Amino acid sequence: MTSRLFTPAALNGTPVKNRAMVAPMTRISASETGVPGEMMQRYYASFARGGFGAVISEGIYVDQAWSQTYAFQPGIVTDEQVAGWRGVVEAVKEQDAVFIAQLIHGGALSQANIYRRSTAAPSAVKPVGQQLSFYHGQGDYAQPEAMSDRQIQQAIDAFAASAERAVNRAGFDGVEIHSANGYLLDQFLTDYTNQRNDRWGGDIEARLRLTLAVIAAVRAKVGPETIVGVRISQGKVNDFHHKWKEGKAGAVKVFAQLQAAGVDYIHVTEYQAWQPAFSDGEQTFAEIAREAAPDTAIVVNGGLDTGELAEAQLEKSADFVAIGKAALANHDWPARVAQGAALRDLPENVLSPVANIKPSEV
Ligand SMILES: Cc1cc2nc3c(=O)[nH]c(=O)nc-3n(C[C@H](O)[C@H](O)[C@H](O)COP(=O)(O)O)c2cc1C
Repeated sequence: MTSRLFTPAALNGTPVKNRAMVAPMTRISASETGVPGEMMQRYYASFARGGFGAVISEGIYVDQAWSQTYAFQPGIVTDEQVAGWRGVVEAVKEQDAVFIAQLIHGGALSQANIYRRSTAAPSAVKPVGQQLSFYHGQGDYAQPEAMSDRQIQQAIDAFAASAERAVNRAGFDGVEIHSANGYLLDQFLTDYTNQRNDRWGGDIEARLRLTLAVIAAVRAKVGPETIVGVRISQGKVNDFHHKWKEGKAGAVKVFAQLQAAGVDYIHVTEYQAWQPAFSDGEQTFAEIAREAAPDTAIVVNGGLDTGELAEAQLEKSADFVAIGKAALANHDWPARVAQGAALRDLPENVLSPVANIKPSEV
């Protein structure tokens, strides 16, 4: 048991002591101006102390325009925000874990933004669903404005400049481009939110173009030796059961193009990672990714609460597992799994209100 989980690995030459990563989780615990403080240092360091080989940060916004998504979300734009992250990075690095910054642009799902009142998206399509109340949202999402070419270029530049700040100034080992869960890059990838008929819209490959442009711009800024990953999903925070209408054939194209773009890992997330990705086949999303991108590390996430579930994914289709809620309940999840110790259930109050979590209590 647990033979693969504790096998060392590497991501683009950076050693990772085991295969367990902390999944990105927004905690809305920065200052109002997006600056990470001491509480976030303790929070992130405790996962590293608990034995995770790598920690992926919560989604960090990338500009002072339309990217901020939630109130009290951290950014990596101003000097103060960068300095705040440097403190968090130092605390994590002291505990010997790889630390990756997840970069997010909320697009139409932005429900709080200290820089703009409006929201921006591929097309002027009001998001389905309701704002997330545990992140202080209420009611419908705003009707977004369709982004101009100039705004799209600014978003690409913002991802790239933030990646550069994250790595060269804050000290992260790498970045993860958030192209999942319904946020801006996923809005471009999704047929019903992207109704453009310019080069950024069309079939699934055309709709992936913005993600590919962001990857290229980020890579150009951080260089060949820094970890660059991308997160991909079908489901969205506002449309949980969404499935790609192009099915497996579309997924194969997406994963193959992400590999060709030169990412170091593809992070796939589904509600339950072991379930078939599409109704007309047995393969999981991770298995399709593994097959279509055989030379790229696959990180798999979704419901892998126990060592057994994680191990099964590592045996079948993934190089790393990302643990979300089970890690919130057990900051020392890897240590517990290694020892065969019992895992704690997620306390009900952990998710709401997320800002009130005291790291010492979880
Ligand atoms: C409180 C909370 C915050 C989250 N924030 C993010 C985020 O910032 N970025 C992201 O990509 N996913 C985010 N997620 C999704 C998780 O990374 C993960 O995909 C999800 O929790 C399913 O994995 P699990 O079953 O291991 O919890 C969040 C999930 C939770 C519970």
